[in-house]
Amino acid sequence: MFAIAIDGPAGAGKSSVAKAAARALGFIYVDTGALYRTVALHMLRSGVEPADAEAVEAALAGVAVDLRHAPDGQHVLLCGEDVTDEIRTPAVSMAASAVSAIPAVRKFLFSLQTGMAERYDVIMDGRDIGTVVLPNAQVKVFLTASAEERARRRCREMEQKGTPVDYEQTLREIRQRDEQDMNRETAPLKPAEDSVLLDTSDLDFEGAVQRLLEIVRERS
Ligand code: DC
Repeated sequence: MFAIAIDGPAGAGKSSVAKAAARALGFIYVDTGALYRTVALHMLRSGVEPADAEAVEAALAGVAVDLRHAPDGQHVLLCGEDVTDEIRTPAVSMAASAVSAIPAVRKFLFSLQTGMAERYDVIMDGRDIGTVVLPNAQVKVFLTASAEERARRRCREMEQKGTPVDYEQTLREIRQRDEQDMNRETAPLKPAEDSVLLDTSDLDFEGAVQRLLEIVRERS
């Protein structure tokens, strides 16, 4: 099996770039952030404070997360319910960042991720894929962009979905999530030593996809 690990901060374009590259390569695209978001959604629905490690750990017993791959991409299931769209709200983003700092949550989602890479050629994106989940991935990329550029992109994306959000608020949330994701004790966001840096601040979408495919070609 061939594995491409893509890590990087929120809003850098990892998922759209990885999705397009997966299509070009005939690989399965695995969005691991969706798994943390699904656990977070369960906590919000159950009234469990996402930063309360003990309460979250206890509530994990009632959580079943599963992935399905359809022609339109990855679907994520929470106890059998398709929550693919529902996990994309700013509230779930913040809660996902909080639950993802809890070691029991990371452990809970670990084998689901490694299991995908055992069965399929994958492009997997997240925060700790090259460092923790798939340390033997053939290609590792750290895909990033400036916080301001990421906030602009997120605002554009939400506007296109018909749910515009405030730029300053989005930038604050992105910075806060970066801070949380980079400074947590368990599996913090950081480039794997053997990763290639791909900064997309000055690249458009097509340019970023082409650069990623180039990196893959160089390494395979
Ligand atoms: O990529 P995303 O925005 O959907 O991720 C949601 C949150 O989950 C993010 O704040 C960090 C966390 N996450 C993680 O800790 N490890 C991963 N492999 C993927 C996401």
